[in-house]
Amino acid sequence: MLKMPDVFLLFCLVGVTNALYKQWIPDTNYENKTNWDKGVVPCGNDKVQFSVQRKVSVYVETTHSVQEMRLPVGGEFILNSGAGFYVGGGQEPGCGAGGTHQFKDSESSQWFNPALWQAATTLDDLQNGHFLFSVHEESVPCQYDDVVFKARSSFRVDTTSSKPSIPVQTVSVLGKTFSSRSEFSQYLSSGSGRLQFHGSSTVSVGNSGCADPSGCDCGNSVSHERICGSVTCSPLTCKKPLRPVGHCCDVCGAIVTIHYTIGFNLQTYRQRLQHLFLVQPSYKSIQLGMSKVFKSQRFMGIIPFGASAEIQIVLLDGKTGPQAGMVAESLARDILKDVHSQGSHLGIAGAEFQASSGSSNSDDLGSSTEMVVGIVFGLLILLTLVAILVVLVRKRVIHMPQISMPSMPSMPSLSSLKKNSDIGELGGPLDHGFDNPMFDKPTTLPALPSLYGTEVNGSISLTQSGVHFVNPVYDENETDFNA
Ligand SMILES: *[C@@H]1O[C@H](CO)[C@@H](O)[C@H](O)[C@H]1NC(C)=O
Repeated sequence: MLKMPDVFLLFCLVGVTNALYKQWIPDTNYENKTNWDKGVVPCGNDKVQFSVQRKVSVYVETTHSVQEMRLPVGGEFILNSGAGFYVGGGQEPGCGAGGTHQFKDSESSQWFNPALWQAATTLDDLQNGHFLFSVHEESVPCQYDDVVFKARSSFRVDTTSSKPSIPVQTVSVLGKTFSSRSEFSQYLSSGSGRLQFHGSSTVSVGNSGCADPSGCDCGNSVSHERICGSVTCSPLTCKKPLRPVGHCCDVCGAIVTIHYTIGFNLQTYRQRLQHLFLVQPSYKSIQLGMSKVFKSQRFMGIIPFGASAEIQIVLLDGKTGPQAGMVAESLARDILKDVHSQGSHLGIAGAEFQASSGSSNSDDLGSSTEMVVGIVFGLLILLTLVAILVVLVRKRVIHMPQISMPSMPSMPSLSSLKKNSDIGELGGPLDHGFDNPMFDKPTTLPALPSLYGTEVNGSISLTQSGVHFVNPVYDENETDFNA
């Protein structure tokens, strides 16, 4: 039995950990050599060019010497304290004869490009590079995620989408976390905000987090086309490639499906798999992506009756050739073994896997009897329905919509039967055998305030005017200066 404080701790843990941190990878930093056309940061003998029309916010970490600088009309420098530019440092070691360096275009960096995000469960994990693998749809921030733009970084992101707004829980820019809708929209309309975010949709913060311990729907399936538009799938070598829910490409590997019940905690279970399996040397190459997904359910494989929520675990091993997916498959078997022995303590009712080698397996804990009962019950109802129909047809009731009472003495019972055997009502009892029990029990406890909360990086001079005046040669009327 858990004592009160333990229970409280458990709930706190749930509140904090059920959303993920999604960090934007590209930056528009002056010091990042990938932002320069020649792949190097310009030095004292070089001429620096920003094309006149560029709308960009550029973070400068340190001091740089340049020979000449051509600035854009509508951009900004965000200078770290002590950062700046000076002329005449050509003698610094490693600086060549000099040339013209152009700051590269960052217009095409799309919010919905899954390759431009990395995910982690905590800010520490983000910092230390312990990233999570996810299917493409969930690589892009989900509606309950915390979005992070690196603290000492500038960026430019195109938020164009088919919807007017992109809901997320919080957004951190330059070390400041925005969790209030109004505060963030105010930031978006500021000079920096407009340089950093462009495109048709507005990012809106203040969406509630995921309060369901068993996980929440990411909400990005509406943007599936847009997300997959920037993904190129690689050729596969396995026999039966699989397509995980929310992914843009077929994969070689294995997919484990977990049928959860009350007490299941997505985050705890992810940690369990991490500590039990992923630490093993043989599973070093494994990428594990785990989330709640909705699969449409079909009665006897044909008649759709709604969607059921289950936990999808995607396992990829990065192997190619005939070995592709084999390590992932052996992990899938290990996971099923674990479910078989411990599942009832973990809130797992059953599990099954499919592998790209063509094999599959399932393990239903106890629920298999319920399933059989459900099927038998369903079949019985179906048979009854058929029998009633036969009777009705024989008595020609079905061809006689208007029946006068006296001519049919047995009519009252028949009409009531007909009412009860309405197809729509029959769908109800049929469902029960197949529906996964889903226990959405939102915790009433509020999420803990983000540890990162109000932390502001003090070393960065953020003020607009300050930024423009630290650099004495930055002048909107005169975009050219010579040494
Ligand atoms: C430079 O930018 C690239 C691509 O935008 C990014 O992957 C890389 O992490 C950045 N480098 C540093 C040191 O931040």
